[in-house]
Amino acid sequence: MSAGATGAPPRVAVIGANGHGRWHRRVIAPLHDAGRVRLVALVDVRPIEPEPAAPLPADAAVFTDHAQMLAVARPDVVVVCTPPHTHLPIARDVLAAGADVLLEKPPVLSMAEHRLLAAAVAETGRACQVGFQALGSAALAELTAAVTAGRLGTVTGIATVAAWQRSDGYYARAPWAGRRTLHGRPVLDGALANPLAHAVMQCLAVAEAVTGTPVRPATIELERYRVRPIEVDDTAALRVVPRSGPPIVAAVTLAGEDFVAGEVIVTGSAGRAVLEYPTDRLLLPGDDAPREVPGRRGLLENLLAHRADPAGTPLIAPLARTAPFTAVLEAVQAAPEPTLLGGDLVTAAGQGPDRVLTVRGVNAALREAAGSGALLSELGVPWAVPPVRTELTREEEA
Ligand SMILES: NC(=O)c1ccc[n+]([C@@H]2O[C@H](COP(=O)([O-])OP(=O)(O)OC[C@H]3O[C@@H](n4cnc5c(N)ncnc54)[C@H](O)[C@@H]3O)[C@@H](O)[C@H]2O)c1
Repeated sequence: MSAGATGAPPRVAVIGANGHGRWHRRVIAPLHDAGRVRLVALVDVRPIEPEPAAPLPADAAVFTDHAQMLAVARPDVVVVCTPPHTHLPIARDVLAAGADVLLEKPPVLSMAEHRLLAAAVAETGRACQVGFQALGSAALAELTAAVTAGRLGTVTGIATVAAWQRSDGYYARAPWAGRRTLHGRPVLDGALANPLAHAVMQCLAVAEAVTGTPVRPATIELERYRVRPIEVDDTAALRVVPRSGPPIVAAVTLAGEDFVAGEVIVTGSAGRAVLEYPTDRLLLPGDDAPREVPGRRGLLENLLAHRADPAGTPLIAPLARTAPFTAVLEAVQAAPEPTLLGGDLVTAAGQGPDRVLTVRGVNAALREAAGSGALLSELGVPWAVPPVRTELTREEEA
């Protein structure tokens, strides 16, 4: 019998309990302690790592196989935090078992997978929330409200710039790190697909506010670069031109000279707004300085509230909302290998797993791209290559 029918708290399980799964365990622990959920099971193919801030309840079970867990522990809500290439089969099994799913981003790797998962959501009538936690930010809500209220005038461009550093150790963290395929199957790590996916999704959310409808990409242009012998991008410039609404540009790197946390820049006829999305610092037209807009609605808590009142509490990040992100991912997956940068352009610092590589001049180039809406090749950056261009047909969007 389901938790809803008995009045008992929803039974929660986590599949993929190590790695980022430990963060989910820390989110669940206080909800479990408060009696709002009951953590019934953890699943991982590797031994479960202890998480001091979220000790395993005495009666919670540990499994190595998710199908066995679904049959035995009968959860109501399942967090899926396994590597991206495993998401579709595991999420479908969760839905078929009658549970709602909080599926980590990127939810799936192609539009074909998106359609299969959307069909499973529709057939089962269960909920699928995707782990784009920055969508629950109050600062984003204030920005989109300002856009909708016309404070920026007509929005002409949306862009993001981010410059992070990732060490050699980062690329040794998991078998799928830095890879485009693993054992012949697509996996897709990379700056756009993984750590800076949130930057892209925040832009798509602002674009959604401009037109009042989800973004429908007409053209996706992509320049991808790497500083290591990896199979994916650590530096990229992306432009999505939607069928309606302003273009979106993402200019990002994991080989940055200076740290830029991640800015979403919205340009309009009446001014410019900047949201630093990892810190929720927002600058609106007329503001003297950025100010923190604290508050994030948690994705698990929102999913629990949605279960209790589906009509009254919409999901923050329903699968359908992530379709344009997956269209971008599909273009990334289909693009040729990123251009390898080296020689005098790339500087190394640190030793062993802590070694980081930076691209000379990359911060200035990315900032100019985000500020102007141009790709690096259009700015005459000497190491830039022409973009790969994908035209989407209306059938492909569906
Ligand atoms: N929302 C965010 O900000 C954020 C941050 C980091 C990672 N992520 C996402 O979380 C997911 C996991 O990332 P990670 O870095 O923890 O990866 P990871 O490779 O460390 O995998 C997480 C765990 O899943 C386990 N696992 C693998 N296959 C499994 C299976 N079939 N059944 C059960 N367990 C399995 C692994 O043993 C590992 O312990 C990815 O989708 C990643 O993009 C999201």
